[in-house]
Amino acid sequence: MATDRPSRWNHCAHVAYRAPVQTKVAIVGGGPAGMLLSHLLWRSGIDNIVIEQRSREYVEARIRAGVIEQGTGDLLRSLGLGSRMDREGFVHEGITISNTRAPFRIDFMSLVNRSVMVYGQTEIQKDLYDSAAGADWPIIFEAEDVQVHDLTTGQPSVSYTVHGEQFFVEADFIAGCDGFHGVTRHAIPSNVRHEFERLYPFGWMGVLSGTPPVSHELIYARHPRGFALCSMRNPMLSRYYIQCTADTVAASWSDDQFWDELRLRIPVEAAESLVTGPSIEKSVTPLRSYVSEPMQWGNLLLAGDAAHIVPPTGAKGLNLAFSDVYYLAEALTERYSTGSSTALDGYGERALLRVWKAVRFSWWMTTMLHTFPDAGEFEHRMQETELSYLAGSPAAQTAMAENYTGLPF
Ligand code: FAD
Ligand code: DHB
Repeated sequence: MATDRPSRWNHCAHVAYRAPVQTKVAIVGGGPAGMLLSHLLWRSGIDNIVIEQRSREYVEARIRAGVIEQGTGDLLRSLGLGSRMDREGFVHEGITISNTRAPFRIDFMSLVNRSVMVYGQTEIQKDLYDSAAGADWPIIFEAEDVQVHDLTTGQPSVSYTVHGEQFFVEADFIAGCDGFHGVTRHAIPSNVRHEFERLYPFGWMGVLSGTPPVSHELIYARHPRGFALCSMRNPMLSRYYIQCTADTVAASWSDDQFWDELRLRIPVEAAESLVTGPSIEKSVTPLRSYVSEPMQWGNLLLAGDAAHIVPPTGAKGLNLAFSDVYYLAEALTERYSTGSSTALDGYGERALLRVWKAVRFSWWMTTMLHTFPDAGEFEHRMQETELSYLAGSPAAQTAMAENYTGLPF
């Protein structure tokens, strides 16, 4: 270890340290993408530092994704990060789709012989941090005013402050894993960057409640009053979402209002057996599809929500962040083990091929299942026909199962 480095890196409090630190890869953002990249790089012997603007407690408490693809689960297992997931997560072999309260099932196992795992992003994040902390890897928390510099030189760097003191990390490469609201994407000049965006005219209100899930599998429900989703975390923790207007303030909805609205949108049998209780968390998420190209510029490499966002309907965001990171780690490993930059030069294009397929799938599911305020008779008939085709066609169901359980990476 270099002498100018602190022997033990902070996982909570910052170690006062001013001289520039050298590393191979500086990772901006310690969410799922940044932390998984850190793990994959350490496995390949590539030293790296994660710089995260929030506290560990804050990141671990952010309630987000719940469904992970089979390939994502396999990747976590390959890193020794799967044991708690396999103990506490739940394998789901299908989902229910409901059209105006009439349900039908998509049976993943019989269609594509694959499944998904229901295991919260909060738990994956804890597993990633716990294992890094155990190995004493460098993660800087609560870094403020994070900035990236000299991206087109051989010596890019990241600066940040902690408690008003400025620090520098010099690296060969900077990985931008700082999510949609991060800073790294904006370092790519606007004349180089091409943005593709679809903002949907609605959001999702999510409620977490300490009640048994209404069904043993997820229910995605289309209803003229709006979309609803019944999900879960464990046998005593349920996660529900309802479509709402984009400007809805979560706190302005009582729990009873939420439960009443949910009951109206889901299949009758589910509504009758729904167990309600006080919400542990209630929040509104806007829905958008967004891709920023290219995913690399100079020595900056973007991964995950920093480069793209999908509406949550297909449960793809976290999985996509992980497949980006898998490609990126593979390319960096080739660069450091052979000196060849071929895979690294092609990283963004390779990742984008899979990204756009997930953008398409999430857009398709969103369009099929939500109520659009400006939809006319034609659009309603198209939604009805899409759902009736899906309900009756093994070919359509196979395409859905293939995408939902995850395209290969
Ligand atoms: P993030 O999780 O956003 O992490 C980025 C990190 O960077 C954060 O920790 C942030 O604090 C940090 N950061 C930001 N700015 C800076 C800065 N300037 N400097 C340093 N650090 C910075 N996906 C699924 O696959 N399945 C699902 O079922 C699913 N459901 C979802 C439900 C909801 C309601 C929502 C909102 C999302 C859902 N997603 C789902 C999407 C998924 O949560 C995201 O795609 C995933 O978190 C992306 O990971 P990431 O690491 O790229 O970005
Ligand atoms: C969950 C979120 C999703 O976006 C989804 O499609 C399925 C499940 C969840 O939070 O459980």
